[in-house]
Amino acid sequence: MHMINRLTAAILLCLAACLPAGYVISQTNTHDPSNNVKTWWKEAIVYQVYPRSFQDSDGDGIGDLKGIISRLDYIKSLGVNTVWLNPIYSSPNDDNGYDVSDYRNIMKDFGTMEDFDRLLKEMHARGLKLVMDLVVNHSSDEHAWFTQSRSSRNSPYRKYYHWWPAEKGKPPYRYSLFDINNDAWLYDSLTNAYYLHYFSRKQPDLNWENPQVRKEIHDIMKFWADKGIDGFRLDAFGFAAKDTTFPHFPAGFEKNFMKYYSMQGNLHGYLQEMNQEVLSKYDVMSVAEGAGNTFEDAHNLVDEDRHELNMAYAFDGVDIAKMEGYSLLRFKEVFSRWDSAFAEKGWLSIYLANHDQARMVSRFGNDSPEFRELSSKMLTTFIMTMRGTPYYYNGDELGMTNAGFERIEDYRDMPTMNQYQALKNKGGDIAAFLKRLQFECRDNGRTPFQWSGKPNAGFTTGTPWIGLNKNYAQLNAEAQEKDPQSVLHYFRRIVKLRRDNPLLVNGRYALLDKSNPDVYTYTRELNGKKWLIMLNFSGKPAKAHTGLALSGGKVVMGNYPTPSRNENLRPYEAVIISL
Ligand code: GLC
Repeated sequence: MHMINRLTAAILLCLAACLPAGYVISQTNTHDPSNNVKTWWKEAIVYQVYPRSFQDSDGDGIGDLKGIISRLDYIKSLGVNTVWLNPIYSSPNDDNGYDVSDYRNIMKDFGTMEDFDRLLKEMHARGLKLVMDLVVNHSSDEHAWFTQSRSSRNSPYRKYYHWWPAEKGKPPYRYSLFDINNDAWLYDSLTNAYYLHYFSRKQPDLNWENPQVRKEIHDIMKFWADKGIDGFRLDAFGFAAKDTTFPHFPAGFEKNFMKYYSMQGNLHGYLQEMNQEVLSKYDVMSVAEGAGNTFEDAHNLVDEDRHELNMAYAFDGVDIAKMEGYSLLRFKEVFSRWDSAFAEKGWLSIYLANHDQARMVSRFGNDSPEFRELSSKMLTTFIMTMRGTPYYYNGDELGMTNAGFERIEDYRDMPTMNQYQALKNKGGDIAAFLKRLQFECRDNGRTPFQWSGKPNAGFTTGTPWIGLNKNYAQLNAEAQEKDPQSVLHYFRRIVKLRRDNPLLVNGRYALLDKSNPDVYTYTRELNGKKWLIMLNFSGKPAKAHTGLALSGGKVVMGNYPTPSRNENLRPYEAVIISL
């Protein structure tokens, strides 16, 4: 799922007018972390674990909590200090756990609450923090609230969801992201009414207007915070508030549905209440999936004075690889714009992949054998040298690539299967669809973690729930541990570099050589210390035009054994120079 943020032309024009040609400059973030006891999340490096595909411990082919526990020393060895775990709650798994049927229990496939308690204890013993997914825009249709709600119009749970009585006629059209017909209302004959589901039919939207629903959610959050977890990632939260009079939207609104769905109604009120009731009472961080439609939305979410959330992640950056007309110029422009907008206040995250995206190296780098390692390292250099909290997806530290499945039977993702079925029903171009999936389907990022060259890459002794990437015999953690030049070792080095250098967290960012179509060049600067980062995003030699004297500089790190000391970069070369 990805949501495209739109930014006003006015902001762009204003930024462009204020800056010298060729530069996008932002100020040092004035918010000094040392003055704030609760800013560990700014310095954090978040490693995302996709539990279903990380490590299986019992041979059922599905990753589990015991499996994660057995790999904690590996995670610790990476140098990261925070783990974000995708949902592990009870779920019928229509959407791999994003359809929760019991928020206070663990999914059977993943283990038990005892396993969870041990996981948390073992993580804390290693100095690792745990951020949990909070999926409360919707629940599963198998949640007791929904079965009750469905049972009768008089149920005390009726108002936990959005129902439209059929005697009022068909409800005004609402677009669904995952439904096979893209229709978010589903008729239920049991009570002769339609219910709303922005995602799949098995993910009915909760009614946040009901204070009882909000209280239930606060109680769930307290349940986990009392266990000692360290943060929440608010899934699809921008959609929680709705105009429940359900006015008609203009025809074709679904092409721009974010405008109608995201950040509506009393969303900020709900967040402020959540902050007051839960977040402010614990040392937990909070991050929203999605940053709204404008910079103003994004700022309002994370402005400390408003007491809502700590940070948000925007989709503009990761969406670029899917858009027509992808270019490095656009990539630079988007990341520079976001950095500028948050230079003075607020905090963002930086990422190029997660469980909703295909693999980073296949989308933004080059996954051919010749350039896979170099371009993986280059992209990792980008993530670790930008401002904002890095979110790094498991397997990218090995340079894992898209699986590129050829047959629809190999895919598991529910919305993908629905799209396929809908296209087939229409007699659409299946070959083109399959080709597109090879590049962008999120299942590419969900194949089992490649631990070793052993059967099933050491992920399971059973049959994996989704096929492995065929390249695991060569591309795996065990092999990379033995090779000091591997992507894995590079990741560890650059993580350490970020942790040792506050400049990479808080330093001022300035884009140089803006119109260079091949090289992304910028500086980071803090307290008189200045580093230059040059990244060749192309598979050919390219020159950066920094306008700086590099001769006196010292190479801090690079992805070639002997890094360039000047502006001439080799294919996918990344160099950090201290000036
Ligand atoms: C978020 C999740 C995604 C899920 C969707 C519905 O976008 O990241 O994986 O499918 O919400 O919960």
